[in-house]
Amino acid sequence: EIRIDCDQSTVSLSPHLYGLFFEDINYAADGGLYAELIQNRSFEYFSLEETHRGTGFHPLYAWNSVSRSGGRAKMSVINTNPLNENNRHYLQLQVDQSDIVGVRNSGFDGIHLDEGARYNVSVYARLNDWTGDSKLTIQFETGNEFDCGRVVLDGADGTWKKFEGVIIATKTTDNASLTVTTEGKGTLDLDMVSLFPQDTFNGRRNGLRKDLVQALADLNPKFLRFPGGCIVHGSGLDNIYRWKDSVGDVAERKPNWNLWGYHQTYGLGYFEYFQLCEDLNMAALPVVPIGVGCGFRCTEFVPIDELGPHIQDAIDLIEFANGPVSSTWGKVRASMGHPEPFNLKHICLGNEEHDTPDMRQRFPLFSKAIREAYPDIKIIGTSGLGPEIPIYDLMTRDKVYSSDEHYYMPPNWFIANEDRFDDFDRNKPLIFVGEYAAHDTDRRNTLYSALSEAVFLNGIERNADLVDMTCYAPLFGHKNHSQWNPDLIYFDKRNVIRTTNYFVQKLYGQNKGDVYLRSHVDVKESTHAPTVSGHVGIGSWNTTIEVDKFTVNGRESDMANWKVTGGEYSTQDGHYIQSDGQATPAMSINNESLSAENVTIEVRARKTGGSEGFLIRFGA
Ligand code: AHR
Repeated sequence: EIRIDCDQSTVSLSPHLYGLFFEDINYAADGGLYAELIQNRSFEYFSLEETHRGTGFHPLYAWNSVSRSGGRAKMSVINTNPLNENNRHYLQLQVDQSDIVGVRNSGFDGIHLDEGARYNVSVYARLNDWTGDSKLTIQFETGNEFDCGRVVLDGADGTWKKFEGVIIATKTTDNASLTVTTEGKGTLDLDMVSLFPQDTFNGRRNGLRKDLVQALADLNPKFLRFPGGCIVHGSGLDNIYRWKDSVGDVAERKPNWNLWGYHQTYGLGYFEYFQLCEDLNMAALPVVPIGVGCGFRCTEFVPIDELGPHIQDAIDLIEFANGPVSSTWGKVRASMGHPEPFNLKHICLGNEEHDTPDMRQRFPLFSKAIREAYPDIKIIGTSGLGPEIPIYDLMTRDKVYSSDEHYYMPPNWFIANEDRFDDFDRNKPLIFVGEYAAHDTDRRNTLYSALSEAVFLNGIERNADLVDMTCYAPLFGHKNHSQWNPDLIYFDKRNVIRTTNYFVQKLYGQNKGDVYLRSHVDVKESTHAPTVSGHVGIGSWNTTIEVDKFTVNGRESDMANWKVTGGEYSTQDGHYIQSDGQATPAMSINNESLSAENVTIEVRARKTGGSEGFLIRFGA
């Protein structure tokens, strides 16, 4: 029986309770939401093996040389007299014998074309000591067809020049490439070879994939937290996300490597994020780094006496979003086509920082400077990785508007924690659940995980006086190039796959009430005795837990009798759990043969490896 007190409203639900968290993980930006079809368009890829997990990249990644009559053209990537200081590398073809020569790009696993569709193409080119044609032929090819649409652009000479045209595809295929060729001999330099379908979201140049944006719009999201996630603080100080690198002419943006193991062009940058927020009527929640490296992978910090430019970046970001066109950064925004302010109201300081003295020292320097410069901007802090949220005390002292907490836990945890916020102190900052997802067995998207998230959201709505915003994470996963599962929406170059978890977000996002009404549910006694289950939450990579004592009803029990699922783990001798995962693991343990009635479990365990704490909890 369900009873609802319709005459007694309890709490108002925040207008922006449900939103999105976008991070460039799983090829969510380049090769995903960002509609660019050329991969490594400015020859800036390099090997990440020495840095982080990205194998096989090099400056000619996704490129091959073309020689129509089989002559030899030497292809190299160099940086003398580059296009500009940020875009330093370019391709040089040295041609000794006159030939039709050029290069071919295979996109992200092949370029998909639709017959009759129009594509905007552009390229920067320069000829040196050239005898021959000044024309560039840009065309689509498949394995056996050399002309599936083309455009010829004239006027190449000894200086860098931008060439732009439109190609109409003459066939539908999933596996085309784009070639840029010319005829002659000498040296041909190319950079920023770019190809976009004209049919982007809102028909924008440098635009976003229409179908993926539509999947977001259908959730009725009220805010966008971006651009990360871990990519904000980077893997170390050398790849912190500096927003200024991501604005202005795309040919002048400064690409960066991505801590998830690939490269980012920043073609989808801060201007495009703000524009997306405006298009979908979402509040923008930019996350800025606070001079603290990723706690999982490094413990680097920007020295205090070098923090100034990083704090200034955060302040300038607000000017970029809201400043008048006469201001330095407002002018940049206007030059990109948006003289009106974006009306930014919030700024997030830090992402899931670990609790260290250096973090505690740096956070207040940022919040103080922002408050002085922009007293009306709401500061969203970070509580650190949940469920423990070790830095909530600092956020409380700092009086932030709200504090961001994250958890990736098994479904049972979400169900057991439906009441998580019931007893939170209402005198502390509001809560922003800025990343969460139920991690079921093998980290698959399951109905059970989706239901457990729905249960958790019910608890949040009951506590909506405290919990101001929520968003699932991660948002996107490329079907063939993901580093993290589960994700909310999977995609490949043509398809969008909405998961069960997506439909929970949609249900809540589209049907958010104004107030929460108290309800009572009387459940008939279950005929099944609940079995015992629990979870092991581990906060870091390669954490080892040794279980010294594990008794059930006072008797020594062997953990080997327990089923361990979720996360990436190994067990040994029933007394040892180790997370092998690259991502924060969350594992379930359960024993289906053990009824939860009148059970006493005692666990004594030690963490013997890894950098962060762990947690074991049991429940029925
Ligand atoms: O959502 C994936 C990652 O999980 C985020 O980058 C990070 O903030 C968290 O650890």
